[in-house]
Amino acid sequence: MGNELLFARKAVKAFHGEGKEAIDLGCGYGRNALFLMQHGFDVTAVDKHPDCLAEIKKKTDKITTVQADLTDYEFTKKYDFILCTFVLHYFEKNIAQELAGKMVAHLKKGGVLAISLIKTPQKLNADELLNSVTELSTVSVVEKSIHDNPHTGANYPHDHDVVFYIGTK
Ligand SMILES: C[S@@+](CC[C@H](N)C(=O)[O-])C[C@H]1O[C@@H](n2cnc3c(N)ncnc32)[C@H](O)[C@@H]1O
Repeated sequence: MGNELLFARKAVKAFHGEGKEAIDLGCGYGRNALFLMQHGFDVTAVDKHPDCLAEIKKKTDKITTVQADLTDYEFTKKYDFILCTFVLHYFEKNIAQELAGKMVAHLKKGGVLAISLIKTPQKLNADELLNSVTELSTVSVVEKSIHDNPHTGANYPHDHDVVFYIGTK
């Protein structure tokens, strides 16, 4: 198993066939974007950090990379699969809700939206996330604790309470 999220693996199972269009919002170093590309998706990867996009570009020229700030991101088209993993908890609630609303609006009929976030005081919670995507049919909502290795800001092994949401239009 690779470094991609369960979401990406589920999407590959859900969408047999080549040529489906996916967008990974806040893609980081591209673990999900690369996995989706390897499974035939036509992938756009968006992040505000050029270093992240440069890492993806080193590995492939098949992914469209877009350097953009998601707090005022404007979609230019609709997608079969929209993925936004561990990003929305950075944003103020209203910004996160607005972005979730744009994701819903830019999902093709039959498309799948997958969002995960770390439960963070004052930021979007699970109920508010669900209220932002009411136009979709919920496929699953899972709340659980996941383990994280040491990283900047938390230099010790630790756990996060997270929400994983999948919906379809
Ligand atoms: C915790 S990482 C998650 C990366 C990836 N989605 C994953 O699951 O591996 C959060 C990512 O969100 C990006 N990010 C944070 N704020 C952003 C913003 N305002 N606009 C665009 N990207 C942002 C960061 O640069 C980082 O790559």
